[in-house]
Amino acid sequence: MTTDALTAGIFDGLTVEDIALLDFSRLVGLVNEPNMPSGGGATIRRIIDLCRLRSGCTILEVGSNTGYTSIEFASWVDGRVIGLDINPVSVAFAEEKAARFGIDNVEFHVGDGLALPYERGRFDLVYCSNVTSFIVDHQGARDEYYRVLAPNGVLVAVPIYYHTVPPDGLRRAVGEAIGVDLIVTTQAYWTELFADPSAALLHRETYEYVRQSPRRIAEYVESVFSQPHLGNIDPVLREAAKARLTYFYELFDENLAYTRYDILIFRRNHPNPESVLHTSRQVIGE
Ligand SMILES: C[S@@+](CC[C@H](N)C(=O)[O-])C[C@H]1O[C@@H](n2cnc3c(N)ncnc32)[C@H](O)[C@@H]1O
Repeated sequence: MTTDALTAGIFDGLTVEDIALLDFSRLVGLVNEPNMPSGGGATIRRIIDLCRLRSGCTILEVGSNTGYTSIEFASWVDGRVIGLDINPVSVAFAEEKAARFGIDNVEFHVGDGLALPYERGRFDLVYCSNVTSFIVDHQGARDEYYRVLAPNGVLVAVPIYYHTVPPDGLRRAVGEAIGVDLIVTTQAYWTELFADPSAALLHRETYEYVRQSPRRIAEYVESVFSQPHLGNIDPVLREAAKARLTYFYELFDENLAYTRYDILIFRRNHPNPESVLHTSRQVIGE
């Protein structure tokens, strides 16, 4: 199906008031925003470098949204990728995008991270970035990720957490935007949540976000709405959707100033678990 066919009438039946109340996931699905992981494609390429996946490997992304990350994995890795998301509109966009770029080693499924429709031990790599915080039962989701992870598999999590406690109003507004009662999570919270007796934490990298100007946010919103398939929608609804997306980006930009994110890599049954006595660090600048 083409993007035009997917989006034909997609705003039909919605009023300006409805659009002003859409949550972020639903709006992203409607407008087909790329929805990248924290750090963009560089994060995915870094994970591929760190994990050194073998030919024929199987990868699952939970919360694949409109397909950016799963397609990025599939475009670099000699293996098979499945992206799963609870939102069928996003899944349809992801399928259309993969077909348009001729990426044939990825498929997309509609499903719930709390009840993954896959057998135990199926995937060599399970990836979750900013999805677990969208699911109320964090522990239940994490248990599902490990259930479908192969005996020597790698769980990669890229959680966003608060480095500095945010104003309460901001935290609540972000929670409303993503449709959950957002709790203030810390780096330790996610590292402990994703830890498992069967797996060793092989690697952790920590990043902070750079604030974006209102002008840069406006340019980005323009680029989303310059997609050809959004050219034909009713101008009044279009402006309402642009205003809603701008609101989310400005809100998230403010919120991200209080946050950091990690790339966490856990390997199950690592044959050489590391407990280095004489630790070392790289000498830089000599
Ligand atoms: C911010 S996006 C993930 C972005 C992206 N895949 C990445 O690499 O960061 C969060 C996605 O989680 C999905 N989601 C929310 N609850 C879910 C659930 N219970 N199971 C699967 N996906 C879910 C939403 O539909 C949305 O597409």
